[in-house]
Amino acid sequence: MLKIIFIFLFSLGLSACDDYDSPKPQHAVASAHPIATQAGIDILNQGGNAFDAAVAVSATLAVVEPYSSGMGGGGFWLLHLANDQSDVMIDGREVAPQKAHRDMYLDQSGNVIPKLSIDGPLSAGIPGQPAALAHISKKYGKLSLQEVLAPAIKAAQQGFKVSKYYQTMAGFRLQALQASPAAAEIFLEDNKVPAIGYTIKQPDLANTLIALAEQGAAGFYKGKVAGALVTGTQTAGGIWSLKDLADYKIATRKPIVGQFGEFKVTSVAPPSSGGIALVTMLNILEDRKWSTLGLVDRKHLIIESMRRAYRDRAMYLGDSDFVSVPVARLTSKAYAKQLAVDIDMSKMTPSNRLPGLDVEAKGNHTTHFSIIDRLGNRVAATLSVNYPFGSCFVPPGTGVLLNDEMDDFSAKPGKPNAYGLVGAKANEIQPGKRMLSSMSPTFIESDDKLAILGTPGGSRIITMVLHSILNVVDGKSAVEVVTAPRFHHQYLPDEVQYEEGSFSAEEANVLVLRGHRLRNLKSGYGNMQLVIVDKKTKQTTAASDPRGEGLAIVE
Ligand code: GLY
Repeated sequence: MLKIIFIFLFSLGLSACDDYDSPKPQHAVASAHPIATQAGIDILNQGGNAFDAAVAVSATLAVVEPYSSGMGGGGFWLLHLANDQSDVMIDGREVAPQKAHRDMYLDQSGNVIPKLSIDGPLSAGIPGQPAALAHISKKYGKLSLQEVLAPAIKAAQQGFKVSKYYQTMAGFRLQALQASPAAAEIFLEDNKVPAIGYTIKQPDLANTLIALAEQGAAGFYKGKVAGALVTGTQTAGGIWSLKDLADYKIATRKPIVGQFGEFKVTSVAPPSSGGIALVTMLNILEDRKWSTLGLVDRKHLIIESMRRAYRDRAMYLGDSDFVSVPVARLTSKAYAKQLAVDIDMSKMTPSNRLPGLDVEAKGNHTTHFSIIDRLGNRVAATLSVNYPFGSCFVPPGTGVLLNDEMDDFSAKPGKPNAYGLVGAKANEIQPGKRMLSSMSPTFIESDDKLAILGTPGGSRIITMVLHSILNVVDGKSAVEVVTAPRFHHQYLPDEVQYEEGSFSAEEANVLVLRGHRLRNLKSGYGNMQLVIVDKKTKQTTAASDPRGEGLAIVE
């Protein structure tokens, strides 16, 4: 049965897995790369739990999907511990180095200097992923860090094959990669985009991972690796210091929790905007009795809820260790009622009628995976180096591709930066501060069902997770959920961005008559990785977004 479904789905270009015959608990991994998914499944089959598998998958994605996440980046790991049914968020987000300052990307006239926050070592925050992996392994895992990092070390030593997708990403960032000799040596072939099938080997990264495996976080943040990271960044004009690395700490945070009908929704807290925005949108939909509406009215209401939640994102959200974020208010049902009060079902609300700031979609690159083990431990993790291949800068001898997550700060609070991004004071640059994120690893759970989900996609991450929650609640299968067409509104620009198939011709006409400006993106976006468990039948299903090249395995 299993095999038949696999063959059928692969013929559709989908990766998904259902084992309808099995009544016993199953484990499942869905990730953006087959080698990473297999690494997670192998660790589970070696007796590891979901947290061991999460470390293995994170580290392997760092090797085989270098354009999405990495040891030079960061992320959020949302964990569910089956033994006491608790949830915890591990915040391994990058922080601004001590020499960072509010105006570091501005010229003397106060204008944003193009690309400074995107390419090269000045764009890199202090990475959080190595510390997060060491912490998750030590505190929650059953196997040793050496055992769980072994698949990633092997992948780095033996190499992986360049795919069409890799080519697209490398082509997009070719010039920036060429500017870093160490990056070009690893990720290009003769300084050009590699041919399909070319093998990318990363011996320096393998050695960095070995140092992490043997010494824990100190293997990365202190000693030889830290020395090479700092020398490499400073030589190329960066501002990292040994103290920045030695001082890096992960944060353990209480997740954001909401209730949508019978489903408990658990997602990530600041410095991600995801959990708060999701709960705000769901509360608005519930207040306006979303499920009783016809299809076009539902879509109109979803757009209006997105508009309002993203206005709040721009206005209020930043690192809650530095600025006061009104979490309880923004996630309350009473506040959603207040936000929903001016939603007119016969016409859209122009965004410029809502007080606030300008924000723009970004072409971020990021990754997500979802895992459950047979005991019911779960992990939803979204990890990033920001733009494809991050800063495109590798400090020589480390194999570590640095992030360009500093671009997630507001380069100039209140004014658009070179990429049209605008934010509030809450997200301005300060030393040691975490930049605002949209990454939204999420669990939803009712008495009957649970789902583990998330996706990359920059500012569209949150609305993709919203669509998937609504589709799971609606009873759609894992494959249907990851395949469903998506649309997005983020307050400003005041337009609905959509994938082909999101609206029927009739729905599009109605939405336009209500004043919505519809923009067909003419291409797909996102890479949702989803696991669903039917708690009554104990059947587990999982699916990896057909827009990507990932793989889901249930067994
Ligand atoms: N860099 C992507 C995000 O954190 O939203």
